[in-house]
Amino acid sequence: MQITVLGATGTIGSRIADQLEERGHQVQRASRSKGADAWDRTGLERAFNGDAVVVDCLNIETIGAKKSREFFTGTAKNITHTAQSAGVSRIVCVSIAGAADPKVNRWFGYYQGKAAQEQTYQQSAVPTTIVHSAQWFELMDNVVRRATLGPVTVLPTMKMAALAADRAAAIIAEDIEQSAEDANDRTLAIRGPEEATTLQICRAILAARGSIDGRRPRVMTQAPYLGRAIAAGGLIPDHGVTDDLTVEQWLAGST
Ligand SMILES: NC(=O)c1ccc[n+]([C@@H]2O[C@H](COP(=O)([O-])OP(=O)(O)OC[C@H]3O[C@@H](n4cnc5c(N)ncnc54)[C@H](OP(=O)(O)O)[C@@H]3O)[C@@H](O)[C@H]2O)c1
Repeated sequence: MQITVLGATGTIGSRIADQLEERGHQVQRASRSKGADAWDRTGLERAFNGDAVVVDCLNIETIGAKKSREFFTGTAKNITHTAQSAGVSRIVCVSIAGAADPKVNRWFGYYQGKAAQEQTYQQSAVPTTIVHSAQWFELMDNVVRRATLGPVTVLPTMKMAALAADRAAAIIAEDIEQSAEDANDRTLAIRGPEEATTLQICRAILAARGSIDGRRPRVMTQAPYLGRAIAAGGLIPDHGVTDDLTVEQWLAGST
C-alpha cells in the first residue's frame, strides 16, 4: 500500500513508518520539517496523492485546553477534507486510551484536545481507525521534564498499563494491514502487560539508567494533580491488544 505517516519524525510516527516499510509498504514520511503542515494544509494534497491510508501521529506540546482543541480539531479537519478529495480509503489516528472520557480529561486540557480530535474523525466521511493506546515507556522523559523543579520531581499520580513505543508501532502497523479492506469505522485499544504508577515506572528507569531525561532528581514523589480518575486508572484500556514486554525487559534491552 501507499501510506502517508504524518508526524513521521516523532516518537510513534517514526516507528510506525519503519514498521510499515519493513512490511513492504511504500511510506511517505510527512511533517513540517519535511514540507507538509497539517495546520495550514501546506503540502498535504501532494502528500496524500495516491494514498490508501493516512496515519495521523501529530502532536503539540501544551497543557492548555484551548490550544490543544484548536490544534487537534484544526489538523483533523484539514486531514479529513484533503483525504476525502484524494480518495484515501482509511485514516488512522493515534490517540490515548481514556482521554476522551470527560471524567478523565476534566483536569487536563491536552486530553480535551485529544477528545475533540477523536470526535472530528468520527464525524468524517472517510473510514477511520482511532487507536486508543496506553502510555509508552518513552513518555516518561517528557513527564519528568514537566514535573521537575531543581532536584525535586512531583509526578502526576497516574495508574497506567504502559508499553514500549516500538511494540505499539508494530501492533498499529499490523492493524493497518488487516483493516485495509474494511469500510467501517474502528477502534484499536493497546496496552502493556503490567499496571503501575508513573512514579513506579520512573523509579525503575532511574534505577536502571541512573538518570531520566538527563536528570537525577533527589526527591521524586507523586500527587494527583491531574485528577482522581487518572490516578485511579482511567487511562487503562479495559479491552484490546495486550503487549507482553515489561518495563524491566525493556530496560534490559529487549525489543
Ligand atoms: N506519548 C504517549 O505515551 C502517547 C500514548 C498514546 C497516544 N499518544 C499520541 O500519539 C501522538 C503522537 O505522539 P508523539 O509522542 O509520537 O509525538 P511527537 O514525538 O511530539 O511528534 C509529533 C510529530 O508531529 C509533527 N508535527 C507537529 N505539528 C505538525 C504540523 N502542524 N504539521 C505536520 N506535522 C506536525 C512533528 O514534526 P515537525 O515538528 O517536523 O512538524 C513530529 O513529527 C499524539 O497525538 C499523542 O497524543 C501518545
